[in-house]
Amino acid sequence: MVDYPDYNADSVEAWEANAEFWDEAQGDEGNHWQRTLVFPGTLELLQPVPTTVLELACGNGNFARQLSRLGIAVTATDASEAQLRGARQRSDGYKIKWVRLDVTDRSALAALSGAAGAPFGAAVCNMALMDIAEITPLFDMLPLSLADEAPFVFSVLHPVFRPGPQVRLFRERIETEHGQFIEESGVKISNYLDTRVNYGIAVKGQPSIQPYFDRTLTELFSTAFDRGWVLDGIREPSITDGGDGDAEGRLSWDHMPNIPPVMVARLRHRG
Ligand SMILES: C[S@@+](CC[C@H](N)C(=O)[O-])C[C@H]1O[C@@H](n2cnc3c(N)ncnc32)[C@H](O)[C@@H]1O
Repeated sequence: MVDYPDYNADSVEAWEANAEFWDEAQGDEGNHWQRTLVFPGTLELLQPVPTTVLELACGNGNFARQLSRLGIAVTATDASEAQLRGARQRSDGYKIKWVRLDVTDRSALAALSGAAGAPFGAAVCNMALMDIAEITPLFDMLPLSLADEAPFVFSVLHPVFRPGPQVRLFRERIETEHGQFIEESGVKISNYLDTRVNYGIAVKGQPSIQPYFDRTLTELFSTAFDRGWVLDGIREPSITDGGDGDAEGRLSWDHMPNIPPVMVARLRHRG
């Protein structure tokens, strides 16, 4: 399924409850995944650097601050007041416009295009579509706020490997043809087409569990393609530096340099 409208309130409530914890985990500059996978992939696909960017589901503003430091005029939005509060507190001295926006709300998305004056040169949504209960309104309405053929770059937990609830990681020992033993980690996938809502956590220890909205690649991209968007850039970065040291000795994504936990994609509207 693509949209789960009955779960939006629950989802936003969970992000309100977890906002402080999330902010602490992300810090000013984002966590290891953000810094090494998400930001480089997103910045690459945003080239050439636009002068204005609309960010959706900005969380604690880690990426908005990056963009602002590049001289980009950023309007950063999120459905959670508590996330925006944390973002503002961390952004003294930055000229970022913070706006509360629930991207499942068609009239709020329509109002945004009017309020902005000139259309944005690009839109970004980092690591959030799998946290957003309904994505159809966004793909329908976002073109109203964007300049012609402006890019919409988004990153998500990789829809195939699905880091998160229900994922099965494994580590195995393999004997090579030279009689040596090597150990390899990977992911077991048995339910890719069985999309659904799964409750889980984003950060170990967070106060409230949250819903994740699984979508296959077909569900995700067809929702966009059916509304006039085309895909013209994609990245599947993996962790090749061994991670941030937190997972030492543990089964973890940090030990899978050949499996991308994140996918970054660039769409343009040709409607
Ligand atoms: C995993 S966080 C990502 C935050 C930030 N983009 C980052 O990369 O650190 C997911 C974000 O999605 C936001 N969110 C969830 N549902 C939303 C909705 N319906 N509209 C707008 N934002 C939403 C949450 O408040 C949260 O800030």
